[in-house]
Amino acid sequence: MTKEEAQKEIVELTEKINYHNELYYQKNTSEISDYEFDQLLEKLITLENDFPEFKYPDSPSQRVGGTITKEFETVYHKYPMLSLSNTYSTEELEDFDKRVAKGLNGEPYEYFCELKFDGVALSLTYQNGVLARGVTRGDGTRGDDITNNVKTIRTIPLRLKGDCPQEFEARGEAFLPRENFTRLNREREDIGEEPYANARNTASGTLKMQDSSIVAKRGLDCYLYSMMSDGDGTSTHETSINDLIRLGFNVSPTYAKCANMAEVIDYIHRWETKRLELPLETDGIVIKVNSVKQQNVLGYTAKSPRWAIAFKYKAESAATVLKNITYQVGRTGAVTPVAELQPVFLAGTTVKRASLHNANEIARLDLRIGDTVYVEKGGEIIPKVTGVDHGKRPTGSVSVEYIKNCPECGTALVRYEGEAVHYCPNLTGCPPQIKGRVEHFIQRKAMNIDSLGERTINQLYEKGLVRSPADLYDLTFDDVYQLEGFKDLSTQNLLKGIEASRETEFESVLFALGIRYVGKTVAEKLAGSLLNIDNLANATYEELIEVPEIGERIAQSVLSYFEEPENRREIERLKSAGVQMEIAEKENTAVSAVLSDKTFVVSGVFENFSRDQLKETIKNHGGKVISAISGKLDFLLAGDKMGPAKKEKAEKLGVRIISESDFLKMIEP
Ligand code: IVH
Repeated sequence: MTKEEAQKEIVELTEKINYHNELYYQKNTSEISDYEFDQLLEKLITLENDFPEFKYPDSPSQRVGGTITKEFETVYHKYPMLSLSNTYSTEELEDFDKRVAKGLNGEPYEYFCELKFDGVALSLTYQNGVLARGVTRGDGTRGDDITNNVKTIRTIPLRLKGDCPQEFEARGEAFLPRENFTRLNREREDIGEEPYANARNTASGTLKMQDSSIVAKRGLDCYLYSMMSDGDGTSTHETSINDLIRLGFNVSPTYAKCANMAEVIDYIHRWETKRLELPLETDGIVIKVNSVKQQNVLGYTAKSPRWAIAFKYKAESAATVLKNITYQVGRTGAVTPVAELQPVFLAGTTVKRASLHNANEIARLDLRIGDTVYVEKGGEIIPKVTGVDHGKRPTGSVSVEYIKNCPECGTALVRYEGEAVHYCPNLTGCPPQIKGRVEHFIQRKAMNIDSLGERTINQLYEKGLVRSPADLYDLTFDDVYQLEGFKDLSTQNLLKGIEASRETEFESVLFALGIRYVGKTVAEKLAGSLLNIDNLANATYEELIEVPEIGERIAQSVLSYFEEPENRREIERLKSAGVQMEIAEKENTAVSAVLSDKTFVVSGVFENFSRDQLKETIKNHGGKVISAISGKLDFLLAGDKMGPAKKEKAEKLGVRIISESDFLKMIEP
């Protein structure tokens, strides 16, 4: 392909992808399948890798990330990012209103109200309508350049639609929508990771991640609320909000213009509970003088504008009595302490229980049974205990001693180094762990046996019929028929569901096994590289960390999983039941057969291709990719930074070591 052809194709693909993206994200429809869309994107990425001179800063390929930033560059803000002074009462707001009236010498003025979004402040610089830079607030004077991560936020336009100043800055708040936060935490708990405490910190941590492809998957969003540029600019805040909307930015539709402080207070009341239905956390209202000219007259203090103020809602909290502490054991054996409370009404619901997180939290609060505690409903869905009223402590109360044994099976609990959580190590004998593993196994993302639910699993466990996922495949009609609520049809349905799960692709099976830290994406990576369960079970630490995105912690976890004879037995049983233990042949993407019967190990970092791309290319030309170097191996395709042990081994065994360019010559048409 000539340079000109490549450029033309890149432009065409970009237009197509942008068109489909807009349909999907803005109009909620689509004209092509996800697969077809991925194909277009993949083609664009490959072309951009081949012709990096045509990789434009607003390319839709930037949305999927893939860049690694080791250290974010510090950049100075052109206009400092100030903060707002806070108020908690309407009296203080009246005072603010008086100060504004006085500052404006009796001139008429109006306010513009917005919600105060609880996320991470971002500054986005656009040059000639293209997103040039995304920077964090930092200390207000300088922040981190996180452009690559910002570009993965789908609602932030990479190129603007209408007329705009040649250079300007848009400011707003990046956030992790509640829904995505819950999903992320569910996924984390699913693979034995501790859930994140709140959406705000998670959003902030996500934006500082080195690997932008992980940022892309988290699903951050961003609401914009101000626009600044040199020169005349707009006449009111309202016009800049309208400009932001016109240019294609995501502006929360919750704003309102208010003629006076009474209308502002109405707005505050209106959103007090309604804000809880919004997709993100909000902790108050921002009140701004609408006219930009008047804003300039009022000016700034060292830290904040005199023309704006934040009204903060008080976090709803209630006092109640701690009756007891109970302990829950999850699928991975993690123990969570729960405060059992005297029921109390809080923000629309009755609260009876609150999370206490772990032993450190109990110690930090110095909790005692009978204490009067404060509970709060914050950003988290489950209320939490935030403090103790020591004045009301009953005499003679003693500190809570954290349990030493599992409340479910009695086994002594363990605490791993550096972790706050206690675990029950009795993997195979502790009921919630056994049931949890079966529940994990059957879920939609795993084996997708939707004819089975928590209640049935409970019954199957109680009757001693199921002690591990493999037992499901031994269930007979009579076993199921005797369960409460099962008739002919429901029994057949359940068995049919189990039967059908035998066809579930290996990637999902691997996730279903519930290996700690092996989530769906990790399972896909492992399956894609190691191809079948035997290769995985026999892979060495070095081979595992060779797999893209697999680090030390996951590699160790996989190794310890396969060290357990019980796990190996379970896999053998699943295998005999006909569950897929190798990846299916992909549809025919063959380009040639020049490499047929040749085996390759791909190792190191390459100049023009990722390891995955090279592996794909080998397969497309009839070759086979394996992970271990042996005497039978034909070629070691070696890039930079390949471990010296590998090279030595290959040399010793007489394996041919080839470079990226040698390889490309081999497949030249
Ligand atoms: S306007 C001079 N509008 O609150 C600062 N800020 O305490 C003007 N924030 O750093 C900012 N929602 O991160 C503005 N609707 C909104 C906001 C908002 C949240 C945050 C922002 C800022 C902090 C100031």
